[in-house]
Amino acid sequence: MSQRFAGLSRLKTGGEGTMSTYDIRLFLRRVPLFYSLSESQIDMLAVGCAWRSFSRGRTIVAEGEPSQSLYILLSGRAKVQRSDSEGKEVILAVLGAGEFFGEMSLIDDEPRSASVITLESCDFLAIPKDNFLSVLNQSTEICLGVMRGLVKRLRSADRKIETLALLDVYGRVARVLLDSSELTEGNRIVRNRLPRQQIAKMVGASREMVSRVMKGLESEGFIAPMDEGQILLREKLSLYL
Ligand code: CMP
Repeated sequence: MSQRFAGLSRLKTGGEGTMSTYDIRLFLRRVPLFYSLSESQIDMLAVGCAWRSFSRGRTIVAEGEPSQSLYILLSGRAKVQRSDSEGKEVILAVLGAGEFFGEMSLIDDEPRSASVITLESCDFLAIPKDNFLSVLNQSTEICLGVMRGLVKRLRSADRKIETLALLDVYGRVARVLLDSSELTEGNRIVRNRLPRQQIAKMVGASREMVSRVMKGLESEGFIAPMDEGQILLREKLSLYL
């Protein structure tokens, strides 16, 4: 669990939806997007704000549906995904603790642009649309925070377009592995479970193809499997980019 939201497990013993307004205010304060807000603006968000816990595989917002809330992810990871009429899916992003989602349809009043689905057990705060829009109206800092979030997503989408257009499948897989890794004591490691199927949906290839690529990368010493599904990435992996 993210350090930022430490203390959540203590509250969880109370069960879903039982977080007090005091605790909700405490967690809202720790969300980077809301750092600049005054006490009264935090109060405005906290009213009607609900805490929700979901197990793995639950759809939190569904592509094409109308929007009612902005969500803050307190713990766990969730994927942002789009699918076509035949059920083929592409993963646009993986979100982690402290990140927000559901802002796009609140801003332009269009249906949800994508689905957000939990990859593991997750805790969220759901802020009602009207409360969020009222605070947005009052705070330039929050507007800038949302814009920063949108710009970050645009940059990442640009990178993805470049990756899909210019790199072969080895390069695309290498980029997903590098983007999902952390530097720990000089070693670059993918810590979170990254199933082949998930990589396939991120790079627009079949699971079989991704399995072949991963085997190739392993046998040529670009990556090495570690305990608990973690993967060690060797420096030369970046040669694929
Ligand atoms: P909204 O359209 O309301 O519902 C789906 C949400 O997924 C969307 O708001 C964003 O918060 C999020 N989202 C959509 N596209 C991306 C993307 N490319 N990267 C990260 N998050 C996204």
